[in-house]
Amino acid sequence: MARKKLIAGNWKMNGLLADGVELAKNVVLQVKAMGKPQCEFLVCPPFTLLTSVKKALRGAKVALGAQDCHMAEKGAHTGDISPLMLKDLGCTYVILGHSERRADHGETDELVRAKAEAAHKVGLKTVICIGETLAQRDAGKAVEVCRNQILGSVPADSNATDTVIAYEPVWAIGTGKVPTTADVEEVHAAVRKVLAQKLGKSVANKMRILYGGSVKPGNAKELLSLPDVDGALIGGASLKAEDFVAIAKNGTC
Ligand code: 13P
Repeated sequence: MARKKLIAGNWKMNGLLADGVELAKNVVLQVKAMGKPQCEFLVCPPFTLLTSVKKALRGAKVALGAQDCHMAEKGAHTGDISPLMLKDLGCTYVILGHSERRADHGETDELVRAKAEAAHKVGLKTVICIGETLAQRDAGKAVEVCRNQILGSVPADSNATDTVIAYEPVWAIGTGKVPTTADVEEVHAAVRKVLAQKLGKSVANKMRILYGGSVKPGNAKELLSLPDVDGALIGGASLKAEDFVAIAKNGTC
């Protein structure tokens, strides 16, 4: 089953206007220089940069996504952004349930699922994040934690077009630490099995499961060649266009 790899950049809370536009333009140049890449590219800047990054991406094969959304379509939710607003700005993706949102904002599986349902309703694709903490891994619970997050966070009617899963071990994010390739493949294969139980085998076989957590050009090849790794969700290295695109190249895109 051929799944087109997705190389996604999560810029997190980084970038003022000029930096964001320059980064987006550089990503466009680098991606264009690849000719016909075999993978799909996505950048997810902060809300404040979406409009200007969208302009900078014009004509390029790089999709635009946001890093979160609210579950309501509109209304009295001060400071929040609805899925429809993101779509209106030209986003096609939204990241949901990132561990930083789960930790900083107390987001639960139920909330993440409600947001994903709202995003799908307006035609946005979701990148739903899961992943264990170091304490959970040390306790031998990595697979169990991910299994429960999938069961709780992924809508029951998700399909391989509207949903991407991102496995990001919390302890690997921004730390330079990466699980062994055997550990990554173990979790990805287990996640695909849970997806098959929840959504059916055919959907699970087509659904992309990204790895995230200290992905760099130097480790992209070994991570992205694992059978159940269908791309990467990249934080720090996505802030340098050369590194972001080198990850794709090294990952045989
Ligand atoms: P780093 O690539 O900086 O470890 O971040 C990963 C991440 O959290 C992407 O969502």
